[in-house]
Amino acid sequence: MKKAAITAFAVMALCGTASADVIKVGVVGPFSGPFALQGKNFKAGIDAYIALHGNKIGDDTVEIVYRDIPTADPAQSKALGQELIVKEKVQYLAGFYFTPDAMAVTPILKQGNVPMVIMNAATSAIMKTSPLVVRTSFTTWQTSTPIAKVASDAGVKKIISVVSDYGPGVDAENAFRKAFEEAGGKIVEAIRMPLSTNDFSPIMQRIKDSGAEGVFAFLPSGPTTLGFVKAFNDNGLKAAGTKFYAPGDLTQESDLPALGDAALGIQTTFHYAVSHDSPENKTFVEAATKAIGNEAELSFPSVGAFDGMHVIYKMIEATAGKQDAQKAVDAVKGLAWTSPRGPVSIDPESRHITQNIYLREVTKDSDGKYFNKEVQTFEKQGDPGLAAAK
Ligand code: PHB
Repeated sequence: MKKAAITAFAVMALCGTASADVIKVGVVGPFSGPFALQGKNFKAGIDAYIALHGNKIGDDTVEIVYRDIPTADPAQSKALGQELIVKEKVQYLAGFYFTPDAMAVTPILKQGNVPMVIMNAATSAIMKTSPLVVRTSFTTWQTSTPIAKVASDAGVKKIISVVSDYGPGVDAENAFRKAFEEAGGKIVEAIRMPLSTNDFSPIMQRIKDSGAEGVFAFLPSGPTTLGFVKAFNDNGLKAAGTKFYAPGDLTQESDLPALGDAALGIQTTFHYAVSHDSPENKTFVEAATKAIGNEAELSFPSVGAFDGMHVIYKMIEATAGKQDAQKAVDAVKGLAWTSPRGPVSIDPESRHITQNIYLREVTKDSDGKYFNKEVQTFEKQGDPGLAAAK
């Protein structure tokens, strides 16, 4: 006994005071079911980050623990968050595709001494629910404000707004309305659809009947957005000349082949296009494609996850691997870096990401591949929704 204790002491002395730990990061996202491709993109971004930067920070080793939540389900999300903190002893929580899933977990962060890095959920108010949240994705206020300017610059005066009736949809409607009305436009009707809506024909009829020149739309990316844009085309609205304005959730790259030529020319504003032309994005797309297995499946949640890992690595460095949620979060306030999407920073007050928002147009290249082509940049956009979330 005594000899063993002395040996252990000698080994510790040789290694210095730091001990090598496994630092667990719990990632909650849709890894099965209708939104599985979005979760697959979380994993591709995380795998790409680890492939490029390794899984060691000093002596510590990072281990990712995944938990699947197929659709928005706050009760299940809370149970998973608790299980990850209490049983798995994760030091960080990350992921969260849907707003209600993120909102359900923020109340337990403080007690668990665990920061949350949101890799997608996009409602402004989430940041107000805990000082331990940092976000590397976007808000729908951030992405929907510039498209209102695009619509009004095109001379459009009357818009009908159609959004999913939950956090990011309501934020998108408010953001678009504020910017569009300030520019002299009018929202003739505002429709909020249940999140579960999948037959969009009645909505298309209401758009036709509204007398609006164009529609503003937000739905969470996945089968929902593909169905909505398809319905817009199939019900003859595109052919009738109705204008279509939306944030980039509506034209994620992985949906473009299924939309085909009907999507050509659709303008959206967003923080990331897989086609973004920069050395950082080239490196990212190569690594993320290797991880996901097929470049055609890459979409925006991958970049939210990749940058989320960057933030988590910086937090682990700053705390030398020790569990101190507040210190970890404080360490990344003001952090700036070049993301695959362009220059970004964490706003020290809101803990949300400041970034460029790009106007993009769906285009077909000479190989017949559809992509979002960036045509204009709105630089260094913060989250205009924070004032609204107060
Ligand atoms: C959200 O629930 O916050 C959410 C989900 C998917 C999106 C955007 C926002 O494309």
